[in-house]
Amino acid sequence: MQRTVPLAVTFVLAALAGSALAAPVNYKTPDEVAAFKPGPNLEVVQGNCSACHSSDYVATQPPMKDKKGFWQAEVTKMIKVYGAPIDDADVGKIVDYLAATY
Ligand code: HEC
Repeated sequence: MQRTVPLAVTFVLAALAGSALAAPVNYKTPDEVAAFKPGPNLEVVQGNCSACHSSDYVATQPPMKDKKGFWQAEVTKMIKVYGAPIDDADVGKIVDYLAATY
């Protein structure tokens, strides 16, 4: 009999603590900012260009005259210099997407 009282108190405290933790908390997450813009071959770009850094690296490039040449060189650099494992067959799709979208 002596043990039932402290046990009951323990259960009540646990129940109170539990209900406090279960109180609803509302978070408003910020809008996604680092996402590739929609366009043809988006999924190829997401699959190949998201592993090492965010899409901000693509979105923050200065204006360029020869978009295709610029992006071709960038993709080549990612592969040759940084070792990005990108399929030869995907390079053209990625360059087309980047030149058309950025
Ligand atoms: C294997 C990792 C890796 C992958 C995959 C990768 N990058 Fe990069 N990228 C890097 C590194 C490392 C840098 C340089 C980071 C720095 O200077 O802070 C970089 C930088 C960049 C930059 C900034 C300009 C520059 O030349 O430094 C651009 C634009 C860029 N990447 C585009 C791409 C695109 C497009 C793809 C997909 C085709 C891609 N990256 C995939 C590693 C990668």
